[in-house]
Amino acid sequence: MYLITHKEVLGPVTKLFVVEAPEIARKAQAGQFIILRVSERGERIPLTIADYDRAAGTITIVVQELGKSTQELGTLETGDALASFTGPLGRPTEVKNYGNVIVVGGGLGIAPIYPICRVLREAGNHVTGIIGARTRDLLFWEDAMRSVTDELIVGTDDGSYGRQGVVTTPLKELLDSGTQYDAVWAIGPAIMMKFCALTTQPYGVRTIVSLNSIMVDGTGMCGACRVVVGGRTRFACVDGPEFDGHEVDWDLLLSRLRIYADLEQVALEAYNSARAAS
Ligand SMILES: Cc1cc2nc3c(=O)[nH]c(=O)nc-3n(C[C@H](O)[C@H](O)[C@H](O)COP(=O)(O)OP(=O)(O)OC[C@H]3O[C@@H](n4cnc5c(N)ncnc54)[C@H](O)[C@@H]3O)c2cc1C
Ligand code: FES
Repeated sequence: MYLITHKEVLGPVTKLFVVEAPEIARKAQAGQFIILRVSERGERIPLTIADYDRAAGTITIVVQELGKSTQELGTLETGDALASFTGPLGRPTEVKNYGNVIVVGGGLGIAPIYPICRVLREAGNHVTGIIGARTRDLLFWEDAMRSVTDELIVGTDDGSYGRQGVVTTPLKELLDSGTQYDAVWAIGPAIMMKFCALTTQPYGVRTIVSLNSIMVDGTGMCGACRVVVGGRTRFACVDGPEFDGHEVDWDLLLSRLRIYADLEQVALEAYNSARAAS
């Protein structure tokens, strides 16, 4: 069992958990993820390592409540325990001194880009951050992001906080500004990553995305997370999750993410009925 040592509510559907997992904390690197189960019979949920503390032996995760399993996770409190917590999984971010980098986090993508900004900055990069969400309630970690970036642009699609509009607008403005940018990271919903990659493509700036394809085992054996990158089939859990955004077959990824939509709806309705009855 894995103890939750701290829970924080970051927004109406966004929760942060610090979990005691010394073995994972010892090896964790930016860009990697864990897979957890709330209970023995629970579904496996892949979540990015949003932070790690090697001395305390803890891993921080940030979860957005979407369907049955993430809502169930959201009900846990400090002192509760998780049935399983496996990791670190996936390849770490390739960190070196690229020069000037832009790091874009959309919605929940703010959690994974935070440790990436930190290690890129430690490697000597000048890091410009862009964070955005649909609305103010979905934004979090603005102060944390300011602490790991040289400059930060904050916005919301509906204009309820910061600049109004989607993250691709400031991204394009930076690329047009005359400054030479050497790499871009874009992490968030698949549709946002697709449009960030389309925005940077004409400028020829290498753009890394973190693919959130459906995962089951997380070890390259089940094939659930299959994606096509550069015309080749890759498994996001072991070959990624970071890939060259200009090479991803986005339409395939987007269609595969919706593959279980009907079953997910049934599971959520059954869960909510059971909760209402108890
Ligand atoms: C490498 C990786 C890192 C992720 N990091 C985070 C994170 O840090 N925070 C966060 O809130 N979410 C993260 N996700 C997404 C998270 O795993 C899903 O939101 C969660 O599994 C949804 O489960 P559910 O039962 O609540 O919702 P469901 O109703 O089952 O599904 C809602 C949507 O979530 C996606 N999803 C469902 N099951 C899976 C699955 N097994 N694997 C991947 N996606 C799934 C599908 O697109 C689906 O349409 C990550 C996913 C991946 C692959
Ligand atoms: S999740 Fe099973 S192969 Fe990647």
